[in-house]
Amino acid sequence: MEYKINTIGVLTSGGDAPGMNAAVRAVTRAAICNHIRVKAIFRGYKGLIDGEVKEFSSQDVSGIIQRGGTIIKSARCPEFQTPEGRQLAYQTLQREQIDALIVIGGDGTFTGARLFAQEFNVPVIGIPATIDNDLWGTDATIGYDTSLGTIMECIDKLRDTATSHERVFLVEVMGRDAGFLTLNAAIAGGCEAAIIPERASVKEQIEDAIGNGRRKSKNSAIVLVQEHAIEGGANAVAKMIEQEHPEYSTRVTILGHLQRGGTPTASDRILASRMGVAAVQALLDEQRNVMVGVQNEEIILVPLTKAIHQKKDVKEDKWQAMLTLSI
Ligand code: F6P
Repeated sequence: MEYKINTIGVLTSGGDAPGMNAAVRAVTRAAICNHIRVKAIFRGYKGLIDGEVKEFSSQDVSGIIQRGGTIIKSARCPEFQTPEGRQLAYQTLQREQIDALIVIGGDGTFTGARLFAQEFNVPVIGIPATIDNDLWGTDATIGYDTSLGTIMECIDKLRDTATSHERVFLVEVMGRDAGFLTLNAAIAGGCEAAIIPERASVKEQIEDAIGNGRRKSKNSAIVLVQEHAIEGGANAVAKMIEQEHPEYSTRVTILGHLQRGGTPTASDRILASRMGVAAVQALLDEQRNVMVGVQNEEIILVPLTKAIHQKKDVKEDKWQAMLTLSI
């Protein structure tokens, strides 16, 4: 080992995700169990630049496993994208005598972490936490399962109004550039269609959505629209439908940040706990610049570069299932 790790820094960055707290708790307690000190860095990379650091004891992470959001706060930090910002961040690490970093977040968090690790030769381990589930190399990211459940509950509620009023509901779902949340929520919610960026023609997808309703002689429908599948999102789809099919009465619901909140599910708490412990173990095993992932229930390590750059595919059978079941 090049040098011994005495102190780990932990931060949460980017969009918050339910289960981030469980991950912070796991990292803190696993480190303490291994006689490593833990310093929490507040507000993600912004706190690293500004020196917002506090040493955590086991008690500091008591009673947080069930809480959504992140007790150490999160932020989006454009300054960390600059060499000057990263230099300031490195100075904080030196001042605080932090030997390695565990970063909890998504794609943007890992992109910054990888650059930082290369520039300053700092061991970094990533824990994937994002509702988008868009990181390659892991079957699930922390927060995804909770978010999926939240979206499904909203769909169930909207179904009452859709059927009562015989309307077409266009429901906008988050996901950055990925359709995992949208497609899986559509299956779980028994939706008539899902419009996702991974499928080429949005127009065709809209026609499918309407066609499905017709074939089934339904007089209501719920269509999920991934936020970036089409410019203008669900509102744009509603306009297209009303123009081409004035016989349909449409309504738009944008779920927005509701999708990021709430108590993490058991599955997210377990995933976060396992990943937090595995991240500390990875540092003890002299691993660096890797993301902790889970594949077929096994914890694995994936190079950060791959996690960021490789594209995770939407499973074809899920797409087919959604189409088949929506007739
Ligand atoms: O990455 C999580 C996410 O919620 C995306 O699904 C969404 O596109 C984005 O963050 C929204 O970010 P913000 O909360 O900064 O507007």
